[in-house]
Amino acid sequence: MKKTFFITTPIYYVNAPPTIGSAYSTIVADVLARWHRLKKIDTFFLTGLDENSSKTVKAAKEKNYTNIQKYTNDMARIWKEVWKRLNISYDNFIRTTDPKHKKIAQNYFNKVYKKKDIYLGTYEGLYCEGCEEFKRGLDLKNGLCPYHKTTPIKIKEQNYFFKLSKYQNKLINLIEKNKKFILPESRREEILNFIKTGLHDLSVSRPNLEWGIDVPFDKKQKLWVWFDALLNYKTGVNKRYWKDQVIHLVGKDIQKFHCIIWPAILLSTREPLPTTVFSHGFFTINGQKISKSLGNAIGPIELANKYSVDALRYYLIREIPFGQDGDFSENALKNRLNNELANDLGNLLSRTLTLVEKFFDKKIKKGKIDSKLKNKLNFKKIDSLIENINPTEALSEIWRFIKEVNKYINDKKPWENEKERKDVLYTALDSLRIIALLLFPFIPDTSEKINKQLNIKLTNFKDAKFGLLKEGKINKGEILFKKIEEQKIKEFKNNEIKQKPMVKYEDFQKLEIKVGKIKSAKEHPNADKLLILEVDTGDRVRQIVAGIKGHYTLEELKGKEIVVLTNLEPRDLRGFKSEGMLLAASDDNKIVILKPEKEIKPGSGVK
Ligand code: MSP
Repeated sequence: MKKTFFITTPIYYVNAPPTIGSAYSTIVADVLARWHRLKKIDTFFLTGLDENSSKTVKAAKEKNYTNIQKYTNDMARIWKEVWKRLNISYDNFIRTTDPKHKKIAQNYFNKVYKKKDIYLGTYEGLYCEGCEEFKRGLDLKNGLCPYHKTTPIKIKEQNYFFKLSKYQNKLINLIEKNKKFILPESRREEILNFIKTGLHDLSVSRPNLEWGIDVPFDKKQKLWVWFDALLNYKTGVNKRYWKDQVIHLVGKDIQKFHCIIWPAILLSTREPLPTTVFSHGFFTINGQKISKSLGNAIGPIELANKYSVDALRYYLIREIPFGQDGDFSENALKNRLNNELANDLGNLLSRTLTLVEKFFDKKIKKGKIDSKLKNKLNFKKIDSLIENINPTEALSEIWRFIKEVNKYINDKKPWENEKERKDVLYTALDSLRIIALLLFPFIPDTSEKINKQLNIKLTNFKDAKFGLLKEGKINKGEILFKKIEEQKIKEFKNNEIKQKPMVKYEDFQKLEIKVGKIKSAKEHPNADKLLILEVDTGDRVRQIVAGIKGHYTLEELKGKEIVVLTNLEPRDLRGFKSEGMLLAASDDNKIVILKPEKEIKPGSGVK
């Protein structure tokens, strides 16, 4: 039987679209999944959404949804669109409102109950709705939740308790014996110390909630959302994947749930435990966690549109050692794009192919591999870094080799060194083939572009050895990465600052500005940045072509109230008539639509 590799991300709350934080876990999980698929290991990559939280209800109501399920369906579409754009190759996208998940979660609750590990009790204490967690005094900082900076609510309620205390010693044993159960090492100690301070029984149901999964034997209670959410790792996958390697990637804020509560539930139901729970750090901005609730979120899509998906994936993995915290910096992203992706990798490909074009009429001629350069690539080491969940170091190691190949070309000077030219260019081309293969899990689009130019197809890691590139013709194409020019950005900023001349009040009065409601949105077939909107402006539904593509998903736009300049002369924008202009604000990172602060009927005048 084939070896299995099962990798999961946390399932995300649906109160907002993905942030850099959620993209981070998901991209790393994607890298690990793709890596194992290339090793021909039977791989399953699970991600999805945690939809049964009270936060879902709150967010839906804030957005004027009366049907909560409709809200989660709309959000699920957005999340999937984002993952598609970021090339996330998940095998299943679980949603906890799926009836199959609900049923299995109830079965588990029953199982634990029948093991006499669940009993009815009264909880009196604090609850943070942001974390969906019962809090103790020592979990707080100055009375506030350290993650959400909010005061937890006081509750006193009857609910079902899980006998977590019963598993205290078993958990200590497990974690002490199994050094890989919690990674990185520092987190393992943190959890061990926490358990040793004493585990208390835990409420696993909540009364009087309007949204969630019913406790199977008590309809007045709903499953505590974490009990339900953790079970996605069972309900989202065929149990044959709970075999060789089961890896949960989580942020450090949710490691306790995964390293204590989750294994305790599995111990109670006597099921296999995960191999590893790996807790990564936070991306911060000025030291604060980037998060929806703190309002400092940067959209991964905006960044991908501006710099490319691969530049974003590369930056996120390479910049901060996986497991540690780090500050997000657009400047650092730009530097890595310019220096590493464009210079080191992009130039290596284009200079090699230019030489092949010039001296060998675009032909790949088989030559002798340089054994010194060959020895600079250590596949086993890279693989073992990935197996130890160190994608940052693995990528750096690949990069070291890319630099070596550049140095090799510089030293050998194949443009003047006729004697060795064939061997040098073959060695460089074959190295590029292996580089593309190794980079596929990290930056799949780029890897495919390299393959296309080398005129080869992606294979697997059996081919991560030298000398396999066959004779043939190259297919030199576009450069891999365009550099971001600092100059351009500065000029743009200066223009923005320049003030326009004063206008008379009467001139302003000539403008007719109205509230509109977007009925539909689609992509412009012949333009990169334009969307075609149907907008109800009270008088009629008009077509407006707007340059906001990439800043909003089509789903997000539908139903949105906006502000429209309605008496602008119609214009033809690449074959589509635009009958008005949508008002939006922009800086050099993003465009945001202006919208009325409260709902108001389409056609209302803006004064
Ligand atoms: N729904 C729970 C998880 C249930 S898993 C059975 C949840 N959801 S979440 O949407 O709030 O967060 C999901 C993950 O995103 C967490 O691992 C969290 O650490 C991670 N991140 C959110 N913001 C982050 C950063 N700024 N940086 C890195 N990851 C962070 O918790």
